[in-house]
Amino acid sequence: MRISPPFGYPVCFTRNLFAPDNPVLADWVARTTDTKPCRCLCFVDNGLARARPGLCDRISSYVAARPEQMSFAAPPLLLPGGETAKNSFDIPHKVIRLARRVHLCRHSVILAVGGGAFLDAVGFAAALIHRGVRLVRVPTTVLAQNDSGVGVKNGLNLGGVKNFLGTFAPPAAVFNDSVFLETLSDRDWIAGIAEAFKVGVVRDAAFLEWIMAHGAALKRRDLCTMERLVRRSAELHIEHIVASGDPFEFGSARPLDFGHWAAHKLESLTLNELRHGEAVAVGMALDLFYAAEKGLIPSSDAARIVGAMARIGLPVWHEALALRAPSGRLFVFRGIEEFREHLGGELRITLPKPLGARTEVSSLDEGVLEDCLDRLRTLTREKVSHGTSGT
Ligand SMILES: NC(=O)c1ccc[n+]([C@@H]2O[C@H](COP(=O)([O-])OP(=O)(O)OC[C@H]3O[C@@H](n4cnc5c(N)ncnc54)[C@H](O)[C@@H]3O)[C@@H](O)[C@H]2O)c1
Ligand SMILES: [Zn+2]
Repeated sequence: MRISPPFGYPVCFTRNLFAPDNPVLADWVARTTDTKPCRCLCFVDNGLARARPGLCDRISSYVAARPEQMSFAAPPLLLPGGETAKNSFDIPHKVIRLARRVHLCRHSVILAVGGGAFLDAVGFAAALIHRGVRLVRVPTTVLAQNDSGVGVKNGLNLGGVKNFLGTFAPPAAVFNDSVFLETLSDRDWIAGIAEAFKVGVVRDAAFLEWIMAHGAALKRRDLCTMERLVRRSAELHIEHIVASGDPFEFGSARPLDFGHWAAHKLESLTLNELRHGEAVAVGMALDLFYAAEKGLIPSSDAARIVGAMARIGLPVWHEALALRAPSGRLFVFRGIEEFREHLGGELRITLPKPLGARTEVSSLDEGVLEDCLDRLRTLTREKVSHGTSGT
């Protein structure tokens, strides 16, 4: 037996999605849903709502103004955002219970508005209700707009293991509204840039050069520059999902997980003190130096990229990298086994070769990794002692 149901969803770029005269969301609902009005539930990231007072009222007014197309089965519900959203079943429980209470049907729509962690948690619930209710994602962070929100996965962490739970469940639609990015903290504005570096390093050298050339504009929060970064990074992520031949990751290769074996371990080692994007920046810095040591890219390129990430304000070192188990082995190297387990037994680590393209290796030399870590630590200390910000 062979089945291959076609999946397709629009990824729209807009400004002020919930402004009374913005037709983008309502037009999609009108085009897509058979039952009119389309019954919706809306879940909003609490951190976003705090930064944008009145957001839930604006969303409610948008829907109330289109009674023939959409209706809310319950008022928008605020739930906590940030990584803690993924560390328990709390959010999925609340989403599922509300859906049950209002008798949501399979053709209804769940609208999730928030950061990457929030979308992962609400998306997990949406994938379970009636075995999959339509999920509309409205990503509101740089990372969620340029990477996680446009993809096909959701996830929850379990027992300190990143994304131990989750499903592959393509959304019904994605609406990227760049105006949301204006209220992000500097930290989250910068953290999301790491995933753009990532796709540049392993998929598009010209884009990587563009990011490095626009580092100053990105750092001073120029929205137009960020819109271009988000768009190209999202396109590269989507291109991979569409063209890789393995959108649901049945094989062991994870070309979009460059730098992630160490990043995921660092997130749990720091008890989520590091943001996902920050941990990815550190993991990439390590793997860039490693790739240079292995002769896959010139050392000068590795140093240039790590320097550019640091100047933008991304971390390239964290003290948790130096923590050792009683055996003397660095704790972060446990990330190699955890990554292997996540892939399904066979270790495949993506590294750049040459810049803008990639290769895969099936093992990592821990001695060489330790040398690379020493260099990253030295680099960071030199920068701090010279008073340069950014690491
Ligand atoms: N599903 C996937 O394919 C995929 C891919 C990459 C990353 N991820 C996941 O994404 C998560 C990281 O997402 P993130 O970087 O968006 O961080 P995040 O979701 O933790 O959000 C960071 C903070 O910003 C707040 N926030 C959200 N939007 C805001 C806004 N517009 N203004 C002010 N504050 C706002 C949130 O409340 C939170 O406190 C990780 O859990 C990571 O594993 C998933
Ligand atoms: Zn990532």
